[in-house]
Amino acid sequence: MRIWLQNKIVPERLAKVSVLDRGFLYGDGVYEAVRVYEGRIFRAEHHWKRLDGSLGSIHMRIPWSHSHLTAACLATARANGLSEALVRVTLSRGQGEVGYDPRSAKRPTLTVIASPIRKDLPRLWRSGVKIAVVNIRRNPMRSLSPAIKHTNALNGILAKIEALKTGAFEGVFLNLEGFVAEGTISNIFMVKRGVVKTPSLDCGILEGVTRRSVLELARKDRVRVVESRIPLKELLAADEVFLTSTTMEVMPVARIVPGRASPRTPGPVTRLLQKSLRELIAKELRLRGPI
Ligand code: PDD
Repeated sequence: MRIWLQNKIVPERLAKVSVLDRGFLYGDGVYEAVRVYEGRIFRAEHHWKRLDGSLGSIHMRIPWSHSHLTAACLATARANGLSEALVRVTLSRGQGEVGYDPRSAKRPTLTVIASPIRKDLPRLWRSGVKIAVVNIRRNPMRSLSPAIKHTNALNGILAKIEALKTGAFEGVFLNLEGFVAEGTISNIFMVKRGVVKTPSLDCGILEGVTRRSVLELARKDRVRVVESRIPLKELLAADEVFLTSTTMEVMPVARIVPGRASPRTPGPVTRLLQKSLRELIAKELRLRGPI
């Protein structure tokens, strides 16, 4: 594997970060994950704007422009022979004196890692996946806001461990008030009597780039959309449930633990949005082949 480190690509064995890096010591950093289709990034600007928001929230500045980050992502995917890839851009506050005071950390660390897209996605888009509502709650907004895409990932990792114990593909968080929040690496949607519903941003979630695209598409397809609080009971009684993320795109949910099988997987609204999103990606990126 070849990795982008600071300003250039290096072989994996040379892609080393100091043990004094605050990313390693404290999870003091932020990241983005972008999807490369036929060598192009879907909605790169949305990702970089969100990154700017994350950086601002943790009072961190970087010397790299949006176009530098785009070039780094594409170069890293290319260097690994990937025209289709998930590319993760990680930015830590860098090395400084040991301790929480960040002022001595002057040089942020940038790494870019490109990974292939999992091969079983098309099968899962047809069959749907199992999700588990986990016991651990989402970090509350006033503690460590889920709107920040930070590298302090233990909340999500503990939820993932819980979900894996039930054999689920993804864990879904409730917030402290008991309303549905989001998946560990995805946003969640439900459909009831033709109306698409997703937790509002004030439920304490990451504003997914895919979530935004899907809301935009649903409105364009004249499907009614509601962003609001969703009690667990309502989610369990939905006609259709699906997840969204940069890699999963629109992923139907076939089963919720605890709960019953979803009667229609993928349901008609989920299928419509799956198709509309693929068309939007192909159109915006002027893709050659069908995706
Ligand atoms: N995860 N919620 C959380 C907590 C996430 O980590 C993600 C993305 C999303 C969906 O956002 P988007 O549609 O912009 O990908 C929602 C990425 C894929 C990751 O961590 O790899």
